[in-house]
Amino acid sequence: MIPKLFARKEPLALPPTVCVVAGDDAAPEVMRPTIETLSLLAPSICFIEALSGREALNRFGDAFPTETREAIDAADCTLFGASGGPSRPVLWYLRWGKETYVNIRPVRWYPGYNSPMLHPERIDYIIVRDNLEGMYPPREGDLSELASLSSSSTWWQAPPVEKRGSYAVRIYTEEQMHRMATAACQLALYRQANGYPGRVTLGAKYSILPRTDGRLREIVRETVRSYPGLSYQEFLIDDLARRMIADPKTLDVVVLSNEHGDILADTASGSIGGLGLSPSACCGTHYAYFEPVHGSAPDIAGKGIINPTAMLLSGVMLLDYLGYGEEARRLEYAIARVYLDEDVLTRDQGGNAGTMELVGAVRERLVAEPNML
Ligand code: NAD
Ligand code: IPM
Ligand code: MN
Repeated sequence: MIPKLFARKEPLALPPTVCVVAGDDAAPEVMRPTIETLSLLAPSICFIEALSGREALNRFGDAFPTETREAIDAADCTLFGASGGPSRPVLWYLRWGKETYVNIRPVRWYPGYNSPMLHPERIDYIIVRDNLEGMYPPREGDLSELASLSSSSTWWQAPPVEKRGSYAVRIYTEEQMHRMATAACQLALYRQANGYPGRVTLGAKYSILPRTDGRLREIVRETVRSYPGLSYQEFLIDDLARRMIADPKTLDVVVLSNEHGDILADTASGSIGGLGLSPSACCGTHYAYFEPVHGSAPDIAGKGIINPTAMLLSGVMLLDYLGYGEEARRLEYAIARVYLDEDVLTRDQGGNAGTMELVGAVRERLVAEPNML
């Protein structure tokens, strides 16, 4: 799942070190058993826990203490739970501080996933989301600040600077668009070698935003053209949203801006059965970190019912990144077996099992079939 493009430029430490930041609300409930499972599979990996959020505030007087930043820097990569607010500075550092420019969000239905779709077996694609630009990080201000803006000056585009209100800036740099496009092509090539069609799909609002989404369209088109084995299709973002539901089988690698990717990754997750099932990897040239697509699920915190699958599958992506391919396949297979058997499922998947029962079922499969690839 993680092609060589995203391998660290610096050699990995032997054995590798992973910084663990559990995060807020219900996130630690899936992080703890995930680390235990990963340690069982790959005992040589050294997991170093670092505090954030309220716990760090109590201990160090800072929600993102220097100790945690140093632990992230010293590790080969980080596994992050989710932020419900207090741990957000860690997320900012992992994205913008470590320049993890692409967010890879696989969307794959496995038999047993509680999908609302009629034919979920056709859902198997990857979202390549911009992780650094577009609308995030927030750059907002008062409308009056736009008085000197000259580039949008025709009557219907001119900002209403005489009114009270605010604006948000959406930024696209050439560098980021090029590396996003390259990442998508490399992923498509990698998947093609494993039987996928080698098709890159762009979803954007290029009809209305020529300088940003329009430029992204040109760059993705040109980049795909430089890979003769790959094919390309593009849809306006609203139409792509429909296609994700009506015709997901045509999708292989989907390139999206930061905010479009944020929204549509949750939509895509809903199509396979929910946020409890969707992992992700955020990769840059010098660093990577792994986190589920979901947030801190505050509404179910402390109940022991949060689905650990997204966190475990993020662990699968981490194992791949660190070169533990065999262990990654074993864990992926064990998770798939649990869903295939459908005897232990969490509530979001229509069952009654708690978090630890699901993890226990995965571990049973790991032990029962230790060499299964
Ligand atoms: P959320 O993803 O936390 O939860 C949305 C819904 O999905 C909730 O009903 C929740 O119970 C359910 N859900 C999520 N993960 C689940 C799982 N593993 N198993 C079962 N059910 C699950 O999104 P939200 O409620 O909109 O946001 C809560 C907080 O999380 C906010 O502060 C938000 O900013 C933050 N957030 C953080 C990240 C991140 O750190 N990367 C990602 C998304 C949201
Ligand atoms: C995600 C989240 C984050 C985002 C928030 C917590 C900033 O929703 O990772 O999908 O919008 O990127
Ligand atoms: Mn999101």
